[in-house]
Amino acid sequence: MPEIDVNNEPCSEGVAIVIFGVTGDLARRKLMPALYENAKFNRLPQPFYILGFARRPWSHDKLRSVLREGVMEYGRVQPIDEDILNSLLERAYYVESTFQDTAGYEQLNQALKDLGVQNILFYLSTPPGMYSTIVENLGKSELDSCPSGWRRIVVEKPFGRDLESAKSLDKELHSVFDEAQIYRMDHYLGKETVQNILAFRFGNGIFEPLWNRKYIDHIQITMAETDGVGTRAGYYDKAGVVRDVFQNHLLQLLTLTAMEAPAVFNAKAVRDEKVKVLVSISEITGDAALRNTFRAQYVSGTLDGKRVASYRDEPDVAPASTTETYMAARLFVNNWRWAGVPFYLRSGKRLPNRVTEIAIQFTQIPLALFGQQNLASEAPNVLVIRIQPNEGITLFLGAKVPGGSMHIEPVEMRFSYAEAFGDAPPEAYERLLLDCLTGDATLFTRSDEVEEAWRLTQGIIEAWETQKLQNLPVYEAGTQGPHGADDFLQRDNRYWRKI
Ligand code: BG6
Repeated sequence: MPEIDVNNEPCSEGVAIVIFGVTGDLARRKLMPALYENAKFNRLPQPFYILGFARRPWSHDKLRSVLREGVMEYGRVQPIDEDILNSLLERAYYVESTFQDTAGYEQLNQALKDLGVQNILFYLSTPPGMYSTIVENLGKSELDSCPSGWRRIVVEKPFGRDLESAKSLDKELHSVFDEAQIYRMDHYLGKETVQNILAFRFGNGIFEPLWNRKYIDHIQITMAETDGVGTRAGYYDKAGVVRDVFQNHLLQLLTLTAMEAPAVFNAKAVRDEKVKVLVSISEITGDAALRNTFRAQYVSGTLDGKRVASYRDEPDVAPASTTETYMAARLFVNNWRWAGVPFYLRSGKRLPNRVTEIAIQFTQIPLALFGQQNLASEAPNVLVIRIQPNEGITLFLGAKVPGGSMHIEPVEMRFSYAEAFGDAPPEAYERLLLDCLTGDATLFTRSDEVEEAWRLTQGIIEAWETQKLQNLPVYEAGTQGPHGADDFLQRDNRYWRKI
């Protein structure tokens, strides 16, 4: 490991983020730009250190230059203020070690002591296969606790690949860290618009009375992506949409939409309410899981005018892969508020547009008073919470077309983030990293929440595995998705919103 020159470092109670796997993409693309944005607004505790830990033979300077390039390329607000970036990078250091080598952790420990750091945030930005080894070694090298400072650990998803592995990972984490020290990252929770679901629901008086089975016909949650599997097939081909986004992002969006108002706004109360939603979702297994889900894989097609490859032809995808790149599910939250209201969830890669939204469709008017002229009865009231892009909220309603007759057409009432607040909303990692540093776990998933989400997901995965399909249904890249997914909703006499 290169020497750390501490001559100029003040002896203090500094804070450090230790990034395991700092040479990977996440550090460059997300973590460092988020730290920079926070530094720009003086939000980081001082003095603040970045310690990268990874196997590649990098020097401190190499680390600094890679992180610098990351900010230059991926920084949200350009141009980048070089003075701020430099002062952040001046305190970035590199520890070269494999994750298995205990000597590396001793070097890390020594470096942190030399820097006078009391408070440490460990960030696991490595393949999930490494989590256990790192956690065990942190425990062995006594980096996990400090009487005069705090220790926290951030674990990126995927948090296990099924209920059992999630539980055993939890056990390993808990053998070294307390639950209160563990921050399980679901970056969707850091998105401004996702947090705004709570503000919208519990910061306004007019929506909550309507937010129940009496007035809501159904809810559609969509997370559509134009990207294919890219360079991540090694992971994705074993995960599929169900593990990649359904178990976490989609179910998180559902819980925030369906949860009761917490008694107070703190990590415990909010997460207690979210867990209650997951517990209330009827488990679907076996035939019920097959009837209430639909999965498919993309084949080549045209997206943005360009021909794109089939999933099976992407690099590192098994040629006969039956991994799903699209899924839809119908879930019911069996409690007093939601009994009987279907929640339709869908997500897919290589769809025609990138859009994540929650659409709340209200029940129809009881009487078609304006007869044939009421075109709005064909387009019922829908409240769309747009998570990304064009962040905002739109209410679709019927209005009279000016003129002599009672001709009614659907119109939109819109709130746009960009129009109301100017700038594009901050990146999820900006908020989430700051929360870990200040010790606010509200926007992180608790162990019981993760387990409940796996319990639900597991039933679906097992049903699919026993179904043993040779070929999955397919959809052409760039289209609205598989036809079977439309039938899936039409059975209920309902229709997907256009992506
Ligand atoms: C990640 C998934 O968690 O979320 C990716 O692993 C997906 O497959 C990504 O592309 C989507 O995130 P965002 O913020 O771009 O919607």
